Amino acid sequence: MERKRFVIIMAAGSGTRMGAGSPKQFLELGGKAILQRTIEVFLEACPGINVVTVLPHDFISWWREYCLDRNFVCPQVLVPGGITRFHSVRNALEKVPDGALVAVHDGVRPLVTPALVRKLFDLAEDKTGVIPVTPCVETLKVLEKKGDDLKIVTGAKADRSILYGAQTPQVFCSEELKGAYSLAYDTSFTDDASVLEKYGKSLSYVMGERLNIKITTPDDLVLAEAVMSMRGN
Ligand code: C5P
Repeated sequence: MERKRFVIIMAAGSGTRMGAGSPKQFLELGGKAILQRTIEVFLEACPGINVVTVLPHDFISWWREYCLDRNFVCPQVLVPGGITRFHSVRNALEKVPDGALVAVHDGVRPLVTPALVRKLFDLAEDKTGVIPVTPCVETLKVLEKKGDDLKIVTGAKADRSILYGAQTPQVFCSEELKGAYSLAYDTSFTDDASVLEKYGKSLSYVMGERLNIKITTPDDLVLAEAVMSMRGN
């Protein structure tokens, strides 16, 4: 029997790199909050999915009002975020039962396609976790900062052919993810896969989507608008 599906939408960051007044997940993209667009992809991919949205404490009632005003009908459990992304995920996992499949997704990645979301959930049915990645396309340099200058680190090599960028959604068996999140926080935990791997689990890596960008800077917003208009959204 298929496991129940959950998605934890990570939206408790402060988004300072955008330079906007409010966190980037609440900025509008084509007339809707980025966060709403992100959640809608999961509702389209997996109708009936259980949504847990992690928000900055101060924005919980604002988001509730926003959804009412915009007639955005989506049963969501709202959870306050923690000091780091790790602590935010840990808070959200309290709302997820064992025996389910759970995707953890950045609220600022609204361009992921429903097809990729479905594929990751389907693959995760008989795995510990499935992680979307994209190959590195740039030539990489190892540099260090010397005052205002960047200098090459002699002898250090970054071999592009074995380097990939990890994206979200990362989909896991909920009991495995919850077990891993009982570990003490470590600064090397930059995504959920790194927590599971520290916990000793092996994961499956599959191709993600180049356009599944994490909206971080004003340039990303321009790019996201262009992608949406190309897709006719
Ligand atoms: O900071 P970064 O861009 O890596 O954040 C990735 C995602 O994690 C964002 O969607 C952000 O809102 C979320 N986050 C969170 N709680 C934190 C920090 C980040 O939910 N304490």
